Amino acid sequence: MTPEQIDAFLTVHRDLHREGPGEPADVHWALEKLGLSGPLDVLDAACGPGADLLTLAEALPEAHITGVEKTAHFATEASARIAAYAPRVQAVEGDMSTPEGTYDLIWCAGALYFLGVTEGLQGWRSVLNPGGAVVFSEPVLLGTPPSDGARAFWEEYPQITDLDGIIERVTAAGYAVQDHRMIVVKPWADYYGPLQARIDMLREQDPDAALTEALDEHQREIDMWHAAQDQIAYALLIVKPV
Ligand SMILES: C[S@@+](CC[C@H](N)C(=O)[O-])C[C@H]1O[C@@H](n2cnc3c(N)ncnc32)[C@H](O)[C@@H]1O
Repeated sequence: MTPEQIDAFLTVHRDLHREGPGEPADVHWALEKLGLSGPLDVLDAACGPGADLLTLAEALPEAHITGVEKTAHFATEASARIAAYAPRVQAVEGDMSTPEGTYDLIWCAGALYFLGVTEGLQGWRSVLNPGGAVVFSEPVLLGTPPSDGARAFWEEYPQITDLDGIIERVTAAGYAVQDHRMIVVKPWADYYGPLQARIDMLREQDPDAALTEALDEHQREIDMWHAAQDQIAYALLIVKPV
């Protein structure tokens, strides 16, 4: 992206609660399924502006929790969001593919596809403590066959598969799936609602060419989601090395 495009992207996304669909109930579901509590070490890989970091901080009051995020702007927003929990909880700018430390839980919402599911899980194996788990959300195709609307929505992610395909990629990394659930409709509406409001507000402020292009791209994404919203999903998976 050019500097103008990065500026435009951040103008659209500044101060949004999160950078993809998900909700506190996802975090609570995973912690309960794993039976996690106490003085754990937790990594939020690609924490974005820190929504899940905050939920983890509140749900695991004795844990040391680190969010790592490549985009400096989001790392700064996340740090501000969890400031009341510092230094037990922190957000740092960095690359999730090479995390420092070792962890009982690696949480990764809507970002493992940047590394590749198999490649990312393989890379994290050496930083998981014995008994440790990874919980990640990943685009998933629903329906047989998936609808044209869902295919169109995911056109920039040709590696997308159905749930069985995700499980194959997890297995190829030497992990086993412990449980899963779908993230569909409401968490997406909760994500796109504030984004739509931001687009509408910026349209009224005489946007320049770069911002207009960014607004058009985001609007297209939202419109495609509206057209096939019950078939556009993330799968949230709990996985452990075997
Ligand atoms: C769809 S957003 C999800 C963010 C956050 N987990 C959430 O749910 O709000 C994906 C995030 O991954 C970050 N990212 C991409 N590659 C990364 C990497 N190698 N290391 C750290 N963060 C990365 C992006 O900057 C972006 O904030």
